[in-house]
Amino acid sequence: MRRPIIAGNWKMNKTSSEGVELTKAIVGLGKGLDGVDIVIAPPFTSLAAVCSTVKDSPIKVAGQNIFWEKSGAYTGEISADMLGEIGCSHVIIGHSERRQFFGETDEMVNKKISAAFSAGLLPIVCVGETLEQREAGRAKDIIKGQIVNGFKGFDNSAASKIIIAYEPIWAIGTGKTATSDEANEMHAYIRSLLTDLFGAALAKKINILYGGSVKPSNSNELLSKEDIDGVLVGGASLDADSFISIAKSALNR
Ligand code: PGA
Repeated sequence: MRRPIIAGNWKMNKTSSEGVELTKAIVGLGKGLDGVDIVIAPPFTSLAAVCSTVKDSPIKVAGQNIFWEKSGAYTGEISADMLGEIGCSHVIIGHSERRQFFGETDEMVNKKISAAFSAGLLPIVCVGETLEQREAGRAKDIIKGQIVNGFKGFDNSAASKIIIAYEPIWAIGTGKTATSDEANEMHAYIRSLLTDLFGAALAKKINILYGGSVKPSNSNELLSKEDIDGVLVGGASLDADSFISIAKSALNR
C-alpha cells in the first residue's frame, strides 16, 4: 500500500515571514493527520525559516528546484547539498514552469535527479503534456519520452526513491482539472512504463501524484482512484485550510 503524499508547491509566492505564518497554520491544522505525508515547497528565501518552523512536526519541506553540480561558479544556482543541510527532505524537479520558462530538458532533469540522490533528497519529478499535444493524440508519447529520458541510468535502488507528479500543463493554474478517470488512465500508463523500466514489484511501490488545479472540491474524487497516490497542489496550497482539507481527503482512500 502506497502512503499518500500531499505536496504544496508555493511557486514564487510568500515572503519568508509570510511563509512562516502559513507554515505555522499548516502545522497546527495538520496535527494528528497520520497516514499521509505532507510536504511543502516554499521559495528558496523561506526554506531555512520554514524548516525550523516544522522541526517538531511531521511536515516535510521541499525545494522547488536545484542545480546538478555540487558547488562552483554557477551564479544564482542552489545545490542539493545546500537544501539537505538546512533540513529539506524533498525537491521538485522538472516542473513544467521550469521546462517552459527556463528551458529545462529531460537531460537536465536526469542530472538533477542524480544530484538529489547524492544529497539524500527525494525527487518529486514532474511530467506533463500541453493541450496541443493532448489534442493531437500525443500525450502518452510525450509522457513516455519524459519518463524514459528523465530516468535513464538509474538502478532499482535509486528508482525506488523517485516520486512522480503527473501534471497536464493545460490543467495548471487554469481551473481546468483532468477528470479523475483521465488522470487515473495516465497514472496507470506511467506505472506500466515504470514496470517496463524497473519491474512490476518496484513500479507498484512508486508514488504517482496528480497536479493541476487540485482543490478541496475535487481532491476526494481524484484521490479515490487506484493509481492516484497523492497530489501536488499549487494555488490551493497557499491557504492552510484548503491545503489541509485536501490532505484530509487522502485519508478517505
Ligand atoms: P495549480 O498548480 O494547483 O495552481 O494548478 C499545480 C502545480 O503547478 O504544481
